[in-house]
Amino acid sequence: MSSIKSFIEKYTKKIMLKNGTEALLRPIKDTDSQLLYNLFHSCSYDTLFYRFMSSSVYLNLQKGNTSFVMKTVRRFTQIDYENQLSIVAIKKENDKDIIVSEGMYVKTGPNRAEVGALTGDEWQRQGLATNIGTFLMEIAKTKEIKFFEGEILLANFKLINLMKTMKIKYNKVISHGTLHFEIDLDEPFYE
Ligand SMILES: CC(C)(COP(=O)(O)OP(=O)(O)OC[C@H]1O[C@@H](n2cnc3c(N)ncnc32)[C@H](O)[C@@H]1OP(=O)(O)O)[C@@H](O)C(=O)NCCC(=O)NCCS
Repeated sequence: MSSIKSFIEKYTKKIMLKNGTEALLRPIKDTDSQLLYNLFHSCSYDTLFYRFMSSSVYLNLQKGNTSFVMKTVRRFTQIDYENQLSIVAIKKENDKDIIVSEGMYVKTGPNRAEVGALTGDEWQRQGLATNIGTFLMEIAKTKEIKFFEGEILLANFKLINLMKTMKIKYNKVISHGTLHFEIDLDEPFYE
């Protein structure tokens, strides 16, 4: 079995959502491009804007510019699982798999990585990002990553609330309407 295949198997698990339904969390596969495209396609302007801090994905989806969007999708699906990792949440709808949420880290230095996440509008508030975020932290620690960092818009109250609800301890620098956060993975939560 290839090392990527066994890595994917090792980090595949079922979770229970707040509405009582199940979802499967697992590392993304290079064959997930269409499912991830479909997730982005299902999202509102705000959801895509806060994820990418730009309107380009939304606008290109509207224009039907598939090649532009697929280029973005490949940044998630064509990864080395060492320096980049995407975890996706999968649900079954009408017997078909759909990706409902994703979270990703990308190493930015020897012991740090930038992190981001998105949950499709109709699946938000079910605990998906909380589960994926915690899972990413757990896996990152096995890769000797000590800090997660990220840049979000100050207007992104959903993510700011999420960090509050998860009791995430983070250092922040605020500048020009953005908040840069840094989480120490050795001590990521308040008691
Ligand atoms: C931020 C985001 C990823 C959260 O995803 P999610 O799967 O809905 O998150 P969870 O269900 O785990 O929610 C955890 C907490 O986040 C906060 N939260 C999430 N959505 C919220 C909303 N609409 N209003 C207020 N708080 C919200 C709450 O504190 C929530 O806990 P609660 O439901 O017990 O009150 C999602 O809203 C999203 O995709 N936003 C757009 C992209 C983005 O901003 N990504 C982050 C920057 S890269």
